[in-house]
Amino acid sequence: MPEKSNAMNKKTSENPVILAVDTSCDDTSIAILRGRGVLSSVVSSQVELHKKWGGVMPDIARRAHRENISAVFQEALKRAHIKESEIEVVAATYGPGLAIALEVGLKFAQALAVQIGAKFIPVNHMEGHMLAPLLCNARGKGPVEPEAEQELFPAMAVLVSGNHTEIVLMTDFGEYQILCETVDDAAGEAFDKVARMLNLGYPGGPVLTLLAGRASAEWCDLDAGYKERGGKKPRNEIAGRYGLTVPVMRSEELIFSFSGLKTACLYKIEDLRTRYSNDAEWSSDFAREFINAVSRAITVKLEKTLAMFPRVKSIFVGGGVINNHYIVRDIGAVAKRHKKRYLLPDKRYRCDNAAMIGAAGFYQFKRGQWIEGDEILKTERNPRLRLGE
Ligand code: KG4
Ligand code: ZN
Repeated sequence: MPEKSNAMNKKTSENPVILAVDTSCDDTSIAILRGRGVLSSVVSSQVELHKKWGGVMPDIARRAHRENISAVFQEALKRAHIKESEIEVVAATYGPGLAIALEVGLKFAQALAVQIGAKFIPVNHMEGHMLAPLLCNARGKGPVEPEAEQELFPAMAVLVSGNHTEIVLMTDFGEYQILCETVDDAAGEAFDKVARMLNLGYPGGPVLTLLAGRASAEWCDLDAGYKERGGKKPRNEIAGRYGLTVPVMRSEELIFSFSGLKTACLYKIEDLRTRYSNDAEWSSDFAREFINAVSRAITVKLEKTLAMFPRVKSIFVGGGVINNHYIVRDIGAVAKRHKKRYLLPDKRYRCDNAAMIGAAGFYQFKRGQWIEGDEILKTERNPRLRLGE
């Protein structure tokens, strides 16, 4: 985290023009903001390149980032009607993420900041997901007025992405404590792996969600599961008729774990394939039940953290898995029950994007945390960066 700079600065406005860059995984993303307002957000997706491998290949990602980044930058400038010389602050993800992918965006951003004499702000990708709900449109209109921002704290953030599943206590901007995180796979990873088991391709989240939308009415009918299992009383950690259990639901420990659920899915899918001739006969119900298990795992631990911190006023959510409307609805129900304000990012800013990096950069800028001059080139990528460090 950079210290407040005392160096002589090129004068910067209160709501500066921010160029934000993210290449932490398989999207080359650049956005331009004025303060919290997004002027343009360009995301060049590499999904097609990685699809045939069933996951992100780091070397392919690095090459594609290198090939695309200049064009993405030009496109972001063009859409924002901003000239390079107008950029006052450059913000870039320096972790967590794939090392060789992070490096491309970080180096590009550092070189640009030095060249144009802009301030530089290294950003934690997860802080980007966390603050994405506060992004505004180009006219500066958003869900929360700047004067009302402090009323959101203390807050809880539920971050669910391809590599992270965590609940974070936010006492203020920049003041974060991870309360609960996964000890193995992230929820998004579980979506991707289960989709692969079902031969649904990559990434798994969107396609499993679509499939779950076709589930039959009794997908979650505990009585159906009860009868199928020979009359034993259903336990409340059973997520539906196929008997998938909600991970670490009964444990008092503040942890997530999705690798056991993934293995349970593998065995269940094998079993169902021996009993039915076609996946289509059961896969919609199965997808719905899997989502239910993931969602319950998240809300159970959210309830626990809310009980520990009853003064929390709002719940922020972020990350690619937050595109799942079942999970959004279930977390929303918890927020409603506990009378907390619920802050969701706009759909455009749930999967990886650079606008959210600009938002995190903006709040760092407001705290006076930036780097200038030769110091800029000293920031190194940190693939294992954690919130609160
Ligand atoms: O936040 P993100 O774009 O990248 C990371 O920082 O990891 O999240 C990507 C993850 C993938 O695992 C993808 O399968 C998942 O988000 N995802 C979803 C949905 N859309 C994307 N998971 C569940 N339901 C969705 N609709
Ligand atoms: Zn992400």
